[in-house]
Amino acid sequence: MRKRLSRRESILQCVALGSLRVAPWLGLTDAVSALQAQKSLALKPTQWNEIGPFYKRLAPKNAQLRQPNDPGLPVTVSGRVFDTRGEALAGAKIEIWQADHHGLYDLDGYRYRASLLAGPSGNYSFDSVMPGHYPARVCQHIHYLVTAPGLKPLITQLYFATDPVFEGDPDRNYSREPLIMSRELVRPVTLTGDPKAIQANVTFELVLERL
Ligand SMILES: [Fe+2]
Repeated sequence: MRKRLSRRESILQCVALGSLRVAPWLGLTDAVSALQAQKSLALKPTQWNEIGPFYKRLAPKNAQLRQPNDPGLPVTVSGRVFDTRGEALAGAKIEIWQADHHGLYDLDGYRYRASLLAGPSGNYSFDSVMPGHYPARVCQHIHYLVTAPGLKPLITQLYFATDPVFEGDPDRNYSREPLIMSRELVRPVTLTGDPKAIQANVTFELVLERL
């Protein structure tokens, strides 16, 4: 059986066979680290999380989920959609749904539900309120279903580092929510605005795998 080559050996092999040429003033160490840095640019796919019972198709294409007098802390969620090579996925479809401030889903209509398209740099953003807790689940969360041609659909959930369940230490406590397998689903929260109109901001990048 052939032995798998180490990274250094495989680069030497590339040089020997002509598939990699290295300028004479660069050492092999430089070549290895440049190639490894390139490899580390590849993105890890976002962790899957279950879809849950409250998804509805055909949500409105409106990024303004929060209406003026809605109770709850206003939150703006934004981010970008990529594939695992780091290429932005313009036009990816991002469906989101969440409970309101009181922890209730709108099952009759489409409050706190949206179907958005990523912009030219894979960007998306929506205005909502911090979802409430509800009895069947440990943590506050927003559901996502992200689809794009040629990519594996991503079903996941966004969690908030400020959730009281984490007691201020999501690094240590994220697994209190049995559905969270990856710490990266728990996002930091930045508060902005003036004291009478505080609002939360959260960034959530989404990385899809190619089919
Ligand atoms: Fe949910």
